[in-house]
Amino acid sequence: MKILKTIEELQDVRKNITSNVGFVPTMGALHDGHIALIKKARTENDIVIVSIFVNPTQFLPGEDLAAYPRRDEADKKICEMCKVDYLFMPEISTIYSKEEILLKAPNKSYILEGKARPGHFDGVLQVVLKLFGLTQPTNAYFGKKDAQQLALIAQMVKDFFLPINIVACDIVREFDGLALSSRNVYLNPTQRKDSLLISKSLYSAATLIAKDEKNINVIKERIYKVMETLDVEYVAIVYREFNELKEIEIGNTIILVVARFNNTRLLDNIWL
Ligand code: PAF
Repeated sequence: MKILKTIEELQDVRKNITSNVGFVPTMGALHDGHIALIKKARTENDIVIVSIFVNPTQFLPGEDLAAYPRRDEADKKICEMCKVDYLFMPEISTIYSKEEILLKAPNKSYILEGKARPGHFDGVLQVVLKLFGLTQPTNAYFGKKDAQQLALIAQMVKDFFLPINIVACDIVREFDGLALSSRNVYLNPTQRKDSLLISKSLYSAATLIAKDEKNINVIKERIYKVMETLDVEYVAIVYREFNELKEIEIGNTIILVVARFNNTRLLDNIWL
């Protein structure tokens, strides 16, 4: 594995690659969810590029960029183990100039996750577009867990006619169903046990839908009922593009939930 730090190094490498490139953008602190993306990229491409860049423009004022976990040495080992070909680890000044053209995410980036973090997705799209320009991937890998991010990136690729295949990868779960997240470590044993109600509520909704229930209010009611002892921030049912939906449409619907355990927000979703 080769570690690249500068634009010149990456562009130099990229222009000599003529085969398929799989790209996995990350902010580091790699866990099993990232490893699943990298492994999938490894099986589907000749060359795999991973980036580790804690992107400042997706943090809002007041959010602690400095506190974001950094585990460069452990991450390098993980990438090596997953047989990554190139690991791109740029500095902030390498990626951003002082005054640059800014991307503006559409209105649907201001609902759900974007409501709590207005402008967050502008920063995500800004950096992902830059990374796509640098790596020019054939396939780019994103987790379904960050479903809104995934939908906006897929839309950006479509809107800007980028010749990139966005690969949506399944949520990786703990043995008991809890969606994998670096935040799970913040849960105390009681919260950890209670957190199982999140995935349980989604499975319960899926069972209801399998019995042909299509009414979103009935389904939401069921989800809230299963999580009634939790501090639920939202339950949402949307089309895959994150447009508002009137009735469940199998093959094009995502149900999302967010519950809070003190300062820890846990996200989960299910794709129908
Ligand atoms: O999902 C993430 O880790 C980040 O939002 C991404 C896509 C790497 C952009 O910084």
